[in-house]
Amino acid sequence: MSATNAHDAKVVVLCGGLSHERDISIASGRRVAGYLEDAGWHATTHDMDGSLLDYLHDPETRPDVVWPLLHGANGEDGSIRDILELADLPYIGTRPVPSRTAWNKPIAKSLVAHAGLSTPRSVTLPESMFIELGARRAMELLVDSLGLPLFVKPTMGGSALGCSLVTKASDLPQAMVTCFAYGQVALIEKAVIGTEVSVSIIDAGNGTGNVRDAEPLILPPIEIESAGIYDYEARYTPGPTKFYVPARLDSAVLATVQDAALTAHRALGLEDISRTDFIVDAEGVPQFLEVNVAPGMTESSLLPQAAVADGHHLPDLYSSLVEKALARGIRR
Ligand SMILES: Nc1ncnc2c1ncn2[C@@H]1O[C@H](COP(=O)(O)OP(=O)(O)O)[C@@H](O)[C@H]1O
Ligand SMILES: [Mg+2]
Repeated sequence: MSATNAHDAKVVVLCGGLSHERDISIASGRRVAGYLEDAGWHATTHDMDGSLLDYLHDPETRPDVVWPLLHGANGEDGSIRDILELADLPYIGTRPVPSRTAWNKPIAKSLVAHAGLSTPRSVTLPESMFIELGARRAMELLVDSLGLPLFVKPTMGGSALGCSLVTKASDLPQAMVTCFAYGQVALIEKAVIGTEVSVSIIDAGNGTGNVRDAEPLILPPIEIESAGIYDYEARYTPGPTKFYVPARLDSAVLATVQDAALTAHRALGLEDISRTDFIVDAEGVPQFLEVNVAPGMTESSLLPQAAVADGHHLPDLYSSLVEKALARGIRR
């Protein structure tokens, strides 16, 4: 399709919401709606607020397709997708149940491990467990058994909020406090030292060629080089973080990482769009960290950067997903 074609269908990009990532979601949503407008769609954004259900229902405003671009809990845990299915609205992306699975990092890890991927050894412990068993002894056990360095993060979250790298035992208490400020359950994982990469998949397959091929488009792994962990600051402040597309890994490793992303996408039952985060360890093995069903789409986000570097035209790429969702229709 040419970017100048006009399309009658109305697309609403849902963004905002009440999560810690509200601002990122709004920036993502505006960009996507802008590119869809460039491609000739009637595209607009809408927040997740008290007017949304009326807006989706009213024949005057009801969209033909919805692109849920909400980050954080309500956006990525499947609930907004449940609402869209209840409202009989076609939408882009993974269905509610697999979204919920992917959103829960320990569950996603165990499913991809079952599908043959490597993921750092970890345990999942709620805050209440530390209180009941005594935090000091529980933390000693973690360090003695898993070893250092450790990585602590909320089981459900995004933008690295509540995450800490723990290189010495005396830093673990603060890491737990930071984590529990963002969620009630902690994923305590072996830290992986290596090359951080992220792989986006666009599966617009409806068999009409190019990005609309039957096979999903697996974008080249993008390497993230940040001074410390790729945290909120490193993500959204221009400058300190460097990106390389493709990642500076040899071609066999790059292919392994792309295969691993497709394995994760399929094992978790994801649809249309996903981004999987890995750290490639010293042996060249991609260690699965997590997967995103509503990846960031701001100017500095990983998916659009990888797509542009790979020669794709974003209005056309995003249009292919709208066309697929329209053709698929409502899901129940
Ligand atoms: N096991 C780990 N070892 C080393 N660094 C990690 C590990 N897990 C996460 N990180 C770092 O923390 C960042 C955020 O973790 P991630 O699991 O991708 O969660 P999210 O992006 O949802 O906040 C990663 O981009 C990476 O820089
Ligand atoms: Mg991540």
